[in-house]
Amino acid sequence: MTQKNFKRTLVTCALPYANGPVHIGHLAGVYVPADIYVRYLRLRGRDVLYICGSDEHGVPITIKARQKGCSPQDIVDEYNALIDKSFKALGINFDIYGRTSSKVHAANASQFFRKLYDEGKFVTRESEQFYDPEAKTFLADRYIVGTCPKCGAEGAYGDQCEHCGSTLSPEELINPHSKLSGAEPIKKKTTHWYLPLQDYEQWLREWILEGHKEWRSNVYGQVKSWLDGGLQPRAVTRDLDWGVPVPVEGAEGKVLYVWFDAPIGYISNTIELLPNDWEKWWKSPDTRLVHFIGKDNIVFHCIVFPAMLKAYGDGFILPDNVPANEFLNLEGEKISTSRGWAVWAHEYVKDFPGKEDVLRYVLTANAPETKDNDFSWKEFQTRNNSELVAIFGNFVNRAVVLTHKYFGGKVPAAGELMPADKEVLAQIPALRDSLEKNIEGFRFREALKDAMSIARIGNKYISDSEPWKLAKEDLARTGTILNVCLQICADLAIAFEPFTPFACERLVKMLNLPGTSWEQLGAEDIIPAGHQLAEAQLLFEKIDDAAIQVQLDRLDAIRAAREAEAKAALAKQVQPQKEECTFEEFEKMDIRTATVLEAERVPKTDKLLKLTIDTGIDKRVIVSGIAEYYAPEDMVGKQICILANLRPRVIKGIESKGMILMAKQGDGSMRFVTPQEVVANGAVVG
Ligand code: 2FM
Ligand code: ZN
Repeated sequence: MTQKNFKRTLVTCALPYANGPVHIGHLAGVYVPADIYVRYLRLRGRDVLYICGSDEHGVPITIKARQKGCSPQDIVDEYNALIDKSFKALGINFDIYGRTSSKVHAANASQFFRKLYDEGKFVTRESEQFYDPEAKTFLADRYIVGTCPKCGAEGAYGDQCEHCGSTLSPEELINPHSKLSGAEPIKKKTTHWYLPLQDYEQWLREWILEGHKEWRSNVYGQVKSWLDGGLQPRAVTRDLDWGVPVPVEGAEGKVLYVWFDAPIGYISNTIELLPNDWEKWWKSPDTRLVHFIGKDNIVFHCIVFPAMLKAYGDGFILPDNVPANEFLNLEGEKISTSRGWAVWAHEYVKDFPGKEDVLRYVLTANAPETKDNDFSWKEFQTRNNSELVAIFGNFVNRAVVLTHKYFGGKVPAAGELMPADKEVLAQIPALRDSLEKNIEGFRFREALKDAMSIARIGNKYISDSEPWKLAKEDLARTGTILNVCLQICADLAIAFEPFTPFACERLVKMLNLPGTSWEQLGAEDIIPAGHQLAEAQLLFEKIDDAAIQVQLDRLDAIRAAREAEAKAALAKQVQPQKEECTFEEFEKMDIRTATVLEAERVPKTDKLLKLTIDTGIDKRVIVSGIAEYYAPEDMVGKQICILANLRPRVIKGIESKGMILMAKQGDGSMRFVTPQEVVANGAVVG
């Protein structure tokens, strides 16, 4: 348990990959909670450094560049700019948003590797990797494609089939080939550097399992299960031409593994921002380091990066907490960048200008802190309309508008407080204490509830005390009530600042306050009597059904396209070949051409058609289960193939003599088999 009094806090947010925009899952998991935390600490006057940046290496970036026919640098330039802009638009203002393709990072990550290398902290291992003999390069699993052994989809990757979601290895792919040249990959020996994580196991156990029992149970539990499973050496280099080159002779064509260089990026970005002062943030025991990440990053931030820092030594501090979140789903389905199933930050700010706070609010109210959670547009609308607008906004609006109406916008003096007034004001310090405990304990959902409780209390108080009714006979009492309300408005401007900073800025302006500090929250007389307020303005506006429908329609279109694609893929699926048969067995089957003369539905059935056909031998009736695919009128006059000598059967009281040959597709749908050109009825097929 940490009870230590730190002098400063270094907050890092997972560096997003610069190969796609950020979405609400990223925001809810990492960036909104981190931002709340940082804003809160700053309101309290604490010394904080807030670091993030783009993660610009790794295989997916090279693949995206190849697909788009541009360089990896072009890709990361594009997305780095887009992501940086989206964060700013949402009020997430890092002290630096750096890049792992920067010179500072290349030098820092190289130096980091080199020191560990020189000190013998790595082991080397030779292994066999897939190699493209034509392109003469090693192939990451993602660069090997083939048919999925599980679902038969084409274009499955060597690590995963995006169609059915199965995790794969390149060995499992059917007909594997290189994405670069199309050649079949061969295995070739290669040597890489590994960090022997197992050497740090005992130390990690003591540091986390013994020393940080206060960490979130999802984080602690994941670390424990990794440690209990036994750690293995982890490769820190890769055969790739995009990344930080391995700074060792004989390592041509090798780069640092993206998960080795990315966390070093936190340090590089600090160096970039504070070239002369960065060590105070990374090497002082007085600094508290907190990593905000999503659950898929736990192992890297709790095991691998700490082991790297421990191996490096030199006074690097370790995280004091890693409040990793679980995942956010969207309308009941997993968010997926590749399938477009997401709400993108840059699109949200375009679609809902001026409503940045609403997204921050909803993502916090529903944050996936202890389990995966769901984002739905309906809930988004309800939380805006029934909470932000109807409670917080409505309360503030009433207080400010009435002050203008009865007191020319000057804060009226409070007369003697009645029990109801005292009771309301007395609740605020307790809520402030709870808010503090919750934010400091990384329970942001609960903290937001505390802030909202202040708004609820204020809204109820103004409704119950009805100052507008008292104005005529007792203006002094109206003044007292409004004074109390305006103090609560000021409390709200402070309590909500970490959550809804834009609205709070508007509120501070409306209240005409010179500034706010945390210590004022719950204090008496935050706004003195006689203080002039500015004009009233709405803090929040309703979101109508039409705006929500646009979003739902967009998701519906994605869902429909996906279903159509899945159906088409299923239809293409081919059944495995049946058991061998002899020519004699085949010869026993009398397959012939025939023409449908009449067709009608078999009464009281959905699937059956009664077909009268001319077989060239005779006219006969066949009952066939094709009514789902063909209407009777579609069949009349059509030439078909039949199995003529199938033993007759009585179906629904009709004797059926033979069987229509149908081609059955992967999705179960059927089409009848017909000769390419019209032939005589009764021609033998074989
Ligand atoms: O999972 C991710 O999106 C990674 N790009 C996070 C990296 S965090 C840090 F180590 F840089
Ligand atoms: Zn598959």
